[in-house]
Amino acid sequence: MTDKSVTLGVNGSNFNYPVLDGTVGPEVVDIRKLYAQTDMFTYDPGFTSTASCESKITYIDGEAGILLHRGYPIDQLAEQSTFMEVAYLLLHGELPKKGELDQFTYTISRHTMVHEQLATFYRGFRRDAHPMAVLCGVVGALSAFYHDSTDITDPEQRMIASHRLIAKMPTLVAMAYKYTLGQPFLYPDNSLTYTGNFLRMTFGVPAEPYVVNPIIENAMRRIFILHADHEQNASTSTVRLAGSSGANPFACIAAGIACLWGPAHGGANEAALNMLREIGDVKRIPEYIARAKDKDDPFRLMGFGHRVYKNFDPRAKVMKATADEVLAELNIKDPVLDVAKELEHIALNDEYFIEKKLYPNVDFYSGVILNAIGFPTDMFTALFALARTVGWVAQWNEMIADPDQKIGRPRQLYVGATQRDYVPCDKR
Ligand code: CMC
Repeated sequence: MTDKSVTLGVNGSNFNYPVLDGTVGPEVVDIRKLYAQTDMFTYDPGFTSTASCESKITYIDGEAGILLHRGYPIDQLAEQSTFMEVAYLLLHGELPKKGELDQFTYTISRHTMVHEQLATFYRGFRRDAHPMAVLCGVVGALSAFYHDSTDITDPEQRMIASHRLIAKMPTLVAMAYKYTLGQPFLYPDNSLTYTGNFLRMTFGVPAEPYVVNPIIENAMRRIFILHADHEQNASTSTVRLAGSSGANPFACIAAGIACLWGPAHGGANEAALNMLREIGDVKRIPEYIARAKDKDDPFRLMGFGHRVYKNFDPRAKVMKATADEVLAELNIKDPVLDVAKELEHIALNDEYFIEKKLYPNVDFYSGVILNAIGFPTDMFTALFALARTVGWVAQWNEMIADPDQKIGRPRQLYVGATQRDYVPCDKR
């Protein structure tokens, strides 16, 4: 807190509002008393100018293309860290010492199995159900199985629920995939890494041993780290808003999954690969660029643009390098990667995209990698949800522990009818 303030003049009276300083980033005007003092609300659809909470977890400088988790740059974490280490960092604020990491990894591995009866939930879905539809249901249903970790006033129960969610998501996502194929579910193998175990549960079968490919394992590690958290985005804000009413953590994460599904958010990775496939050939790129620029055409370049980044999404840089590595190492020649690179090149040199500061985001290249690994497109957003669960639970814990936390309750600018009398049906 500083002594800085801003003054707002309303109907001849002046009101002072304190200006708050974060450790980095823009100053924030504290308008909590605004309504009580002036009888006015602020109007900010899409929350483009509104900080909804205080947080110590993730920092983004969208103009400079910087993303830090607890102060550590995302590219350093993606290059040098493990997903378990990043999960610990997001949850607890510091990189773990060796003993802490071993204990955390052990704890997560002890929670990887799901209640046996949960498998019957899957059998209620159609085989062609979208994995995100399945996940909205089964993650919400976890609260019916793990009552002993739904008391949000107990910090220990909150941590157990967080561990359960992080540990069980790979199992639940892999089960969603297996169910679509009609293959048996595989139990977790806790001798493998978090990513190795997930790959085995997804691509292995009980009839033969599964050998984890270290190149794919490493690519998945990076993809999970790159998706682990991203400040107060739509799904994280949804988790916080759901949690602000005191809802249990499993219900809150299910709400986050529902929000993530949309094509403007996590669904963009699926939409981006579908778009690249539809373009199909570099010769057709100008046609799609023209459509993206046409105000009368709802088409947008999927995987391009971001609410916060007005520069390269730092995650996209790592993702592009990973796409190159994975395809080279697996010896795959995918024309979709050529389309993606050329599309990026053309868009980055086009006046429309330059002027609007539209750059590739994390979803532009992730689909190419996931496709090369063998995931069908409708699994892409489910993988995003798996990784983002870590960020969601970290943000949810932070919110519950915040003494300033209140139920989230935005106000509105009402533009509907004023009071009028009911007219019986035969007189309308
Ligand atoms: N293609 C063409 N034009 C675009 C695009 C795009 N991908 N994105 C934004 N624009 C234009 C938009 O038409 C608008 O033009 P004008 O000012 O003339 O009306 C201007 O740029 C600003 O766009 P906006 O929709 O007001 O910006 P926003 O901050 O509300 O939207 C966004 C951000 C990510 C929803 C948007 O850029 C978009 O729809 N991108 C495609 C979907 C996508 O890739 N989403 C993944 C986001 S990153 C992963 C995640 O966090 O989930």
